[in-house]
Amino acid sequence: MFSLLFLLLLCLILSLLMFFHKYITTKHLPPGPKGLPIIGNLHQLDISKLYLQFSQFSKIYGPIFSLQLGLRQAIVVSSAEIAKEVLKNNDLVFSNRPMLYGQQKLTYNGSEMVFTPYGEVWRELRKICVVHIFSSKHGSYYSSIRMFEVKKMIKKISEHASSSSNINLSELLISLSSTITCRIAFGKSYEDEGHERSRFHGLLHEFQALLMEFFVADYIPFTGWIDKVRGLHGRVDRNFKEFDEFYQEIIDQHLDPNREHSEEVIVDVLLKLKKQNLSSIDLTFDHIKGVLVDMLVAATDTTSATSVWTLTALIKNPRVMNKVQQEIRKTGARKEFLDENDIQSFPYLKAVIKETLRLYLPAPLLVPRESREKCIISGYNIPANTILYVNAWAIQRDPNVWKNPDEFYPERFLESSINFLGQDFELIPFGAGHRICPGLSMAVASIELILANLLYFFDWKLPDGLVKEDIDTEMLPGITQHKKNPLYLAAESPT
Ligand code: HEM
Repeated sequence: MFSLLFLLLLCLILSLLMFFHKYITTKHLPPGPKGLPIIGNLHQLDISKLYLQFSQFSKIYGPIFSLQLGLRQAIVVSSAEIAKEVLKNNDLVFSNRPMLYGQQKLTYNGSEMVFTPYGEVWRELRKICVVHIFSSKHGSYYSSIRMFEVKKMIKKISEHASSSSNINLSELLISLSSTITCRIAFGKSYEDEGHERSRFHGLLHEFQALLMEFFVADYIPFTGWIDKVRGLHGRVDRNFKEFDEFYQEIIDQHLDPNREHSEEVIVDVLLKLKKQNLSSIDLTFDHIKGVLVDMLVAATDTTSATSVWTLTALIKNPRVMNKVQQEIRKTGARKEFLDENDIQSFPYLKAVIKETLRLYLPAPLLVPRESREKCIISGYNIPANTILYVNAWAIQRDPNVWKNPDEFYPERFLESSINFLGQDFELIPFGAGHRICPGLSMAVASIELILANLLYFFDWKLPDGLVKEDIDTEMLPGITQHKKNPLYLAAESPT
C-alpha cells in the first residue's frame, strides 16, 4: 500500500515537473494563431501557398509569429530587421535544418549539404564545394560548358524565329539548365530523346515531388504508420534505390581506367579527393552521391525559374524590355555571342535580374532552419529545436522598406547599393549567414549569360491575340517556385 502511494506521488511530481518545464520553456513565445490539441495549426495550413498564408498571418500577429506544427514549435519571421536578428546575430543558433523523413532518406541521411544539420560533415562538404568545386580552377571549364549550351539554344531559337511560331520558353530553359547542371556534375546530359532521358526525368520528377511531400510523423511522432498506409515510405524507398543505382553507374563510369580522358567534372573532383584521402572526414560514396543530389535539388530549377520569371516580367513591362535591350545592343559591332566579359558592362541587366529575384524569388521561404539551442529573438523566448521560416517573399515586398513594392522597377537598384549577397536583409533570395547559398555566383553567372543572349539576339513578342495582362504570374507549388503556366513567346530577329 505504502509503495503504491509512493509510486502515485512520484508520478504526480514528475507530471508537475514536466508541465512546468514545458510552461517555462514555451513561456513568452511570439503570438500566433490558436491551434487544436495535438495537431496544433496543421489543419490551417495550405502547403501550396505557405508564403502567402504566412504573409496574411504576419498582418494579424506581427513580423514574428508562432505556429504549432503538431508537437513541433515553429516561428515565422517577416521583417528585414528580425531576419537580421536570426540570420546574422543568431546565425549559429539557427544554422541547423529540420530533419524531415523524406528529405533525409532521399539525401543519404545527412551526407550532403542542403538538408544536413550543422556539424562536421556539413562543414567539410561545404568546404569541399567552396574550395574544390566552385573554385576558379574549375570555373573556366564550367563557364565554357555554359557558353556552349547557351549558343546551342540560341541556334535552336533562330530556326524557330524564321517560322514565327511560339516558343515554350519554360520548357526550353528548364532543359538548358538541366543540361548545364548535369554536364558540370556528371559529365553528360540527359536531354536527347530515348531511354536515358525518360529514366532520368522520371526519377527526378518523383524525387522532387517526394521532397515536397508532407509526412505526418515529422510533426506527430508515432504516426509513421499513417505515412506508410499512404504509400509514402514505399515511394521513398523505391525512388532512393533507383536514384542510387543511377549515381552508382555514373561513379563506376568515372572510375573506369579505360575511360577516355576528359575535363574534370564535379564527380571526378570528389572521387579524386576520396582517393587521395584529402578530406578531414572519411569521404564515402554516399557523401559523393549526396553532393550530386544537391546539384540536382539546388541548381537546375532555381536557375531556369529565375530566367523564366525575368522574361515574364520583361514582357509585361515593355518600357523595361526596351531599355535593357538598348543597353545590351549598344555593344558596338554585331557580335556572334555575348560572353561573361560583355555582361560586366550591363548594369541595367543586372538591376533587372535583382528586381526579378526581389519579386519572384525561387525559394520564397528560403530553406527552413532550426534552432540548436534556446535563444531570445525580439524579446521572445525561442526554445531549442524550433523550426524557423524566413518569409523572404514578404520581406522583399514590404511597403515599409520598398517604395511601390509590387511594381517591377529595376531602377531602384541603380540608385542604391542593396545587393543579394547576404548583407542586406531586405533582399535575401539566396539566404544569409553560414548557410547562404554557395552556388550564388554560379547561378548569377548562368542567369546573366542566358538572358543577355536571349535579349541581344531576339525581339520577344506576345503570342497572337494576347495582351500583356494575359500573361499570369501565378506560382506553381514546389521546392522551387516555377511559373504555373508555361511562358510562350514568339522570337523575331531584330532588324
Ligand atoms: C541553399 C537560393 C542556385 C546550391 C540555398 C538557400 C537558398 C538558395 C535560399 C538556403 C539559404 C539559407 O538557408 O540561408 C538559390 C537561388 C538560386 C540558387 C535563388 C538561383 C537563382 C544554386 C545553385 C547551386 C546551389 C546554382 C549549386 C550549383 C545550394 C546549396 C545550398 C543552397 C548546396 C545548401 C547550402 C547549405 O545548407 O549549407 N540556395 N540557390 N544553389 N544552394 Fe542555392
